[in-house]
Amino acid sequence: MHDSWNSPDKFNREALQWDENPRRSALALAVSKAIIASASPNKTMRALEFGCGTGLVTMEIASLAGSIVAIDTSREMLAVFYEKIRTSGITNIETREIDLLSPLQNGLQQESFDLIYSSMTLHHISDTAGFLNRISNILAPGGMIAIADLDKEDGLFHDDPLEKVHHGFEREELAAMLEAAGLQKTMFQTAYQFEKENREGKRVVYPVFLVTAIKEKS
Ligand SMILES: C[S@@+](CC[C@H](N)C(=O)[O-])C[C@H]1O[C@@H](n2cnc3c(N)ncnc32)[C@H](O)[C@@H]1O
Repeated sequence: MHDSWNSPDKFNREALQWDENPRRSALALAVSKAIIASASPNKTMRALEFGCGTGLVTMEIASLAGSIVAIDTSREMLAVFYEKIRTSGITNIETREIDLLSPLQNGLQQESFDLIYSSMTLHHISDTAGFLNRISNILAPGGMIAIADLDKEDGLFHDDPLEKVHHGFEREELAAMLEAAGLQKTMFQTAYQFEKENREGKRVVYPVFLVTAIKEKS
């Protein structure tokens, strides 16, 4: 039995070992640096991370932002993150187990954020365009999104061939979707080169982009 889109099962199973993969930590650090350089988070900002996992990115950004809501659908990933928050004494991160795709349940639609960021989660969300619309709706005027994910890949990045994921994104297609969601000034950069042995045993470099876009003030 294979997990479907949006199923937290795989991440619940992997949560306790998630941070043990040094390439994952290096990727998260590189993405965090790129987000900080592009979005210049500051203490007046209220930020949201979707798909925060064990908090590898948000832990790098927390000291710079005013407050951060970190959401994920996996209870176990959040439990690992919560333990880090508790032991570090950080007080400006709030974790929530919610799915942005379930608007009736997530309670976020009345909220507004100055910065919405994410790393390696967009490819797990089936309806990319619909999802970007949802995010745009809770972005404050003048606010920025900063999303890191895989460039279009060979389809072999994930070890499980049956896992439901997008095989990365074409930058032009994503830019068009961001524009359709009401976001402007789209900019791409390559934030990291993820080198790994793919599931056919070949050593491949998978580039990871960071795309930023702004919701203009009306
Ligand atoms: C590849 S992991 C990345 C985790 C973290 N950002 C990192 O860099 O280590 C993807 C994360 O997205 C979460 N996720 C998947 N679909 C989601 C959704 N619809 N809403 C919120 N989180 C989701 C998963 O539970 C998982 O923790």
